[in-house]
Amino acid sequence: MREGGQILREVLEQLAAEVVAGMRTRELDDVVEREFRKRGVVASFKGYHGYPASVCVSVNDEIVHGIPGTRVICEGDVVSLDLGVLHRGFHTDAAVTVGVGAVEAGAKRLIEVTRGALEAGVVCARAGNHLGDISAAIQRHVEGNGFAVVREYTGHGVGRELHEEPQIPNFSCGKGPVLRKGMTLAIEPMVTNGAWRTKVAPNKWTVLTTDGSLSAHFEHTLVVTDGEPELFA
Ligand code: MF3
Ligand code: CO
Repeated sequence: MREGGQILREVLEQLAAEVVAGMRTRELDDVVEREFRKRGVVASFKGYHGYPASVCVSVNDEIVHGIPGTRVICEGDVVSLDLGVLHRGFHTDAAVTVGVGAVEAGAKRLIEVTRGALEAGVVCARAGNHLGDISAAIQRHVEGNGFAVVREYTGHGVGRELHEEPQIPNFSCGKGPVLRKGMTLAIEPMVTNGAWRTKVAPNKWTVLTTDGSLSAHFEHTLVVTDGEPELFA
């Protein structure tokens, strides 16, 4: 997972740097296909429950699971990129959100607060803490900054399967299990600048805010230790 995660982070950063106004979201999928082939890794998402692409590209009011296609990215857009690698039998999963060109101040803040929420959750991922400590820290960071956290989608365990137990809500919902050294987790807050309610597009994949508000998404794959977690991706 360490090896796969490193490749994932590298390609994700490259991808984030390639996002420019005027391009189609499908071009980002092409980049992933090419870079994964070059590195000999497999896209975790392609074919997962029939998902048709290697990356999720979710623009503005799209929260997660946006399918790359003919949509043209515009100046000021908020673009979330979510990517998974399967390498030597293990998955890693990570996401970042970027603003395209000159982005509204509010959108920029949304992105920064979501990044901060992930960090707040990550520092709570240590042996002896409860899973609920991660959820509570994320919610506190998001709501303390005036934004809303999506409730219908969660982080998750990750390893031999892309999605494993436990689910990791991004809001308080009980203490949850005690975290143990060696647990591999994908923590992924999804945050909006409006309400937290979601709907699914007619393509049955793309998840959107119901009120048209903007959304940002960051994700790390990590392993729990006795101290700070080790980030795989
Ligand atoms: N990081 C996303 C998640 O954990 C990955 C979506 S997988 C997909 O839900 F293949 F279904 F798109
Ligand atoms: Co995930």
